[in-house]
Amino acid sequence: MKKIITYGTFDLLHYGHINLLKRAKKLGDYLIVALSTNEFNEIKGKKCYFPYEERKQLLEAIRYVDLVIPEDSWEQKIENVKEFKVDIFVMGDDWRGEFDFLKEYCEVAYLTRTPEVSTTKIKTDLKL
Ligand code: CTP
Repeated sequence: MKKIITYGTFDLLHYGHINLLKRAKKLGDYLIVALSTNEFNEIKGKKCYFPYEERKQLLEAIRYVDLVIPEDSWEQKIENVKEFKVDIFVMGDDWRGEFDFLKEYCEVAYLTRTPEVSTTKIKTDLKL
């Protein structure tokens, strides 16, 4: 069984997220999403609209997602890859190159972002 892992905040779930998860799942058989916790978002200076538990529920309802685990540090990736015997680490290409250090442990793939949608854009646009 080929295992895939991806990381993110997934606040105000949108079609860019679904597209990413769909393509990530296609690369293997089992998709793990490491979802940033409220505390980790604070560290990153990000303020989520939906809290962790609600973001987690939304992700768990998506057919491409098999498991949601918390992301609460920058350093956990190597540990996660080893623990879950991950074959491919996937991120959107806004992160291209950032996680190449994981190539020692698994395959690393950067997928093209869906144009013109992001949580930040939704937040900004709705303020109008
Ligand atoms: N993503 C994507 N296409 C988009 C938006 C996001 O492929 N249009 C991907 C990101 O590259 C990442 C995952 O979805 O791999 C989760 O991204 P996240 O940062 O949670 O979503 P954004 O909408 O980019 O949020 P923000 O605006 O807060 O950065």
